[in-house]
Amino acid sequence: MTRLAGKVMHVTGAASGIGAACAKRFTDEGAVVIGSDVVDAPVDGACASFVELDVRDEGRQREVVERIVDEHGRLDAVVTAAGVASGGPVHLLDLDEWQRCQDINLTGTMLSAKYALGPMLEQRSGSIITVASVEGLEGCEGGSSYNAAKGGVVLLTKNLANDYGRAGIRANCICPGFIQTPMFHAVVDHMPWADKIRDQHKLGRFGEASEIAGAAFFLASDDSSFVTGVALPVDGGYVAGHSYGISEHWT
Ligand SMILES: NC(=O)c1ccc[n+]([C@@H]2O[C@H](COP(=O)([O-])OP(=O)(O)OC[C@H]3O[C@@H](n4cnc5c(N)ncnc54)[C@H](O)[C@@H]3O)[C@@H](O)[C@H]2O)c1
Repeated sequence: MTRLAGKVMHVTGAASGIGAACAKRFTDEGAVVIGSDVVDAPVDGACASFVELDVRDEGRQREVVERIVDEHGRLDAVVTAAGVASGGPVHLLDLDEWQRCQDINLTGTMLSAKYALGPMLEQRSGSIITVASVEGLEGCEGGSSYNAAKGGVVLLTKNLANDYGRAGIRANCICPGFIQTPMFHAVVDHMPWADKIRDQHKLGRFGEASEIAGAAFFLASDDSSFVTGVALPVDGGYVAGHSYGISEHWT
């Protein structure tokens, strides 16, 4: 398939999980993909090139986009997949860890969008795809700093849609459920209540990174040309409603 042929895309957090899956899907669809990550470990064949970028570093964000435009002449989409898990009940929260969570998940997303907007405003086109979480749409026990950051990503994205729609730039936010990536395994594998979390997904399973990449592909492609300002749950029904197991009687 080459439905993204001719498009130039930047994926942050591309060394692992959801970012790596997005980079691979875009490459498979014919895009030129520049992956970036704070760790230098590109997935084989997923990106045309790979650069080191800590999303908190504003100067480096500027340099990376300048290099993309120098080498490829444009930037059609950015996916802000870089992120970290964090949280805990507020009375136990360490302020430095709270700040790290906001800096990477929220401020890093803002900076990735800010520098993508330069070429996109010149082109009068572009697709900004942020990655929040179902935890940015509703609260959950112990979520605190992570939920606060991801809720910020949801509203930041809606504001981007408001501010830049007239320039032909779309902004949408993917809100994944629990997706089996290295981040998931680091956090959920140790939870005695992992089965309860799985059961909140109405499809009765956790998700795969490729399923998030499918949504990112839609939002990056011209198939979503009239879609902007959306916070799209890709979550197996996690936020569809409360589930008490009653449907087990008829399914
Ligand atoms: N896996 C899930 O269940 C899940 C659910 C909802 C949302 N998300 C979000 O999806 C995104 C991707 O998560 P994942 O599950 O693929 O995790 P992951 O840990 O597999 O990948 C995240 C990547 O981000 C990179 N990263 C971390 N800090 C960075 C920084 N300062 N600058 C640049 N890169 C940095 C990491 O090196 C890693 O490669 C994150 O924003 C995460 O919060 C994940």
